[in-house]
Amino acid sequence: MADKPEYIPGLAGVPAARSSVCLIDGSVGKLQYRGYPIEQLAEQCTYEETAHLLLFGELPTREQLETFEQELATRRKLKFRIVDVLKQLPESGHPMDALTAAVAGFGMFYPGDHVADLEFRRLSAVRLVAKLPTVVAAWHRIRRGDDPIPPRPDLGHAANFLYMLEGEEPDELAAKVMDVALTLHAEHSMNASTFTARVTASTLADPYAAVASAIGSLAGPLHGGANERVLAMLRTIDGSSPEAVRRWAEDRLARKEKIMGFGHRVYKVKDPRAVILQGLATQLFERYGATPIYDLAVELERQMSELVGHKGIAPNVDFYSGIVYEKLGIPVDLFTPVFAIARVSGWLAHLLEQLQDNRIFRPSQIWVGEADRTVPPIDAR
Ligand code: ACO
Repeated sequence: MADKPEYIPGLAGVPAARSSVCLIDGSVGKLQYRGYPIEQLAEQCTYEETAHLLLFGELPTREQLETFEQELATRRKLKFRIVDVLKQLPESGHPMDALTAAVAGFGMFYPGDHVADLEFRRLSAVRLVAKLPTVVAAWHRIRRGDDPIPPRPDLGHAANFLYMLEGEEPDELAAKVMDVALTLHAEHSMNASTFTARVTASTLADPYAAVASAIGSLAGPLHGGANERVLAMLRTIDGSSPEAVRRWAEDRLARKEKIMGFGHRVYKVKDPRAVILQGLATQLFERYGATPIYDLAVELERQMSELVGHKGIAPNVDFYSGIVYEKLGIPVDLFTPVFAIARVSGWLAHLLEQLQDNRIFRPSQIWVGEADRTVPPIDAR
């Protein structure tokens, strides 16, 4: 009899695709999209350029960028019936659920053979990147009784999102910081939500279904949902002295409770995105004034490094993202939807790659139950 296949919980380290989208070397904190270092993309490219790179494989020329920017800008609007769908949802619900519902509904509003028809496939991808920020901003306004603010085609992707939240055009620094934050979250190889998107895409379901399922996967607290919890957690810490912060961390570690914003399946050093976000946070504080919670976060990072740094547990992207988003005026429960707005281009890059050489995902299992049982009559159970 053949050897039993080994069971690997969480499929840790098991390759699920051959991919040229994102390269990570977690031992040295290296992250590249299509071979370009994240540090260069964050400094030199907009989110639109990054999305083009991810979706179509290359950075756009000036002309290609103009066309792509225009295409995105003209597709930002939502059909009024999608807005009607959002209006039917309970205002107390989580914005990630509203986003999942709206995106799942897109498939009904844009019917067609999304997968076999290459142009439709491309168009669906552009539409999803363009419309996700509008859904998130519209939902945020609808839930508090305000009308959604129509998108402005003259603003960039990031600036337009901030504008649609409150109707105020962000200044250059706020728009730049938002743009970089989107770039940093745009892609991260085979994480849970990307794997989810690829699994759904492998059934030849349409891109709207693939992205809706990926959003559901991102919502969990061990994945995208962690960014909301970091701020809530920081607010429970007595930051009056380094000793108090250390005591808090030691207690939590002793109870074997996870400290949000730390640890990563792939990175065993500080996440390069956390390094860039920390730099952005500093720029925001110089312009708009300091936030005490940032000093507390830096102290917690220092204490954690002494306590568990040797185990490869270091800040991940979520540790500083919440602090940055809060300074930009984004409500806490929109942090994970903002992650989805960014990551949608990565999910779609993987979807397009999956479809180029598709085979439906169908892993196996290790049977641990009883076999060959006989159904007893109901009175004998
Ligand atoms: N706080 C305390 N201890 C931790 C943490 C943490 N945040 N992360 C890992 N550890 C410890 C584990 O307890 C375990 O210790 P042990 O060997 O003594 O049992 C060891 O480090 C290995 O941890 P795993 O859980 O096996 O690591 P895994 O790769 O499975 O999990 C994960 C990674 C889920 C991100 C984990 O670090 C975690 O839960 N972090 C907190 C949540 C978080 O910040 N998530 C965001 C991740 S980034 C993203 O999704 C964008």
